[in-house]
Amino acid sequence: MKTYLVTGGAGFIGSNFVLYMLKKYDDIRIVNLDKLTYAGNLENLKSVEKDPRHIFVQADICDRQAVSALFEQYDVDVVINFAAESHVDRSIKNPEIFVETNVGGTVNMLQCAKNAWAEGEGFKAGKKYLQVSTDEVYGSLGETGYFTESTPLCPHSPYSASKASADMFVMAFHDTYGLPVNITRCSNNYGPYQFPEKLIPLMINNAKTRKPLPVYGDGMNVRDWLYVEDHCKAIDMVAQAGRDGEVYNVGGHNERPNIFIVKKIISALADRVDPAIDETLIKYVEDRKGHDRRYGIDPQKIRDELGWTPETTFEVGIEKTIDWYLANVEWMERVTSGAYMDYYREMYQNR
Ligand code: NAD
Ligand code: DAU
Repeated sequence: MKTYLVTGGAGFIGSNFVLYMLKKYDDIRIVNLDKLTYAGNLENLKSVEKDPRHIFVQADICDRQAVSALFEQYDVDVVINFAAESHVDRSIKNPEIFVETNVGGTVNMLQCAKNAWAEGEGFKAGKKYLQVSTDEVYGSLGETGYFTESTPLCPHSPYSASKASADMFVMAFHDTYGLPVNITRCSNNYGPYQFPEKLIPLMINNAKTRKPLPVYGDGMNVRDWLYVEDHCKAIDMVAQAGRDGEVYNVGGHNERPNIFIVKKIISALADRVDPAIDETLIKYVEDRKGHDRRYGIDPQKIRDELGWTPETTFEVGIEKTIDWYLANVEWMERVTSGAYMDYYREMYQNR
């Protein structure tokens, strides 16, 4: 039985990954380490609450003792490091926690893996450390071209700078100590359980409650959207068969300007909820500082080497996602009460 140490497994992508893996494989167990920050939510994992293959541990990836104790207690085969501060706007306001968690936490995870897996001059067989990174480390594209794995790192936000720095430590542990590692760099994810600070769930929630839809700048910044399950599938494949020390970009060639996404959500909600939901809700607001103009992933390497292809088109994925948020009103109400209201006011009231 393979043991995965998944960090950040109560967040958006992490919880989708835990559910995906437990559904797909009988013969694994997942130790899920999560600090439960504002973005972590055990409600996402309700369906596996009683599953003995899922062991939840509330802890901080920066905590040497807690993490090394888990390596000692469970014979960890694979680490999947999702845990991070993940929101660009928050990083612009408070960069320090991004360095602490995303850089310091990653280095701590690497050190713990290196110590636990050491054997003779090298490492025990069959071990793998996978860092879940992002296309944002490459910076911004012009109107043409795509990010490949050899595109130079050129991060612009404190968030992407912290992720790029973490990636460099991952490669440094590979090059210096021979730690078996992979890095995945995926484009924007969407789907169930995404915290409504991010574009798609925020717009669904605001439109449903007839609140203004805050579009940054001219709304023409482009993101490359991928349904979260397709990202989970890619991570699973890289963890199993990725070549040691390699980076794999993940994306489905699904680039859309932000305003297209917002209008799509408006028309879907007008059909399903209330025809009065219309484009008059759109409010163009002050742009994000240092706003990257365009992201676009070239996924040829993961496609050619590992046979990964996305299964969910944007047309299907966005409908499934809207259906999920409409069917999970209580989830949305719980995550948008309390501290979320303060965050929302701070972020949007003077924009
Ligand atoms: P998220 O913010 O929804 O979840 C982050 C999780 O990490 C939460 O459960 C939180 O409690 C946990 N966490 C935060 N700090 C921690 C700490 N110090 N110790 C332990 N747990 C901690 O994030 P997400 O959108 O699911 O992103 C997951 C990972 O994927 C991140 O590393 C992010 O950089 C990367 N990524 C995200 C996207 C995207 O579109 N969301 C795309 C590519 C890559
Ligand atoms: O590309 C991968 C990255 O995607 C991940 O690494 C990050 O963790 C994840 O948060 C996401 O970053 P973005 O900044 O692209 O996502 P966000 O949902 O915050 O914004 C998407 C686009 O929408 C971006 O161009 C900013 C814009 N936007 C966002 C919000 C929240 C708006 O116009 N209005 C908004 O209110």
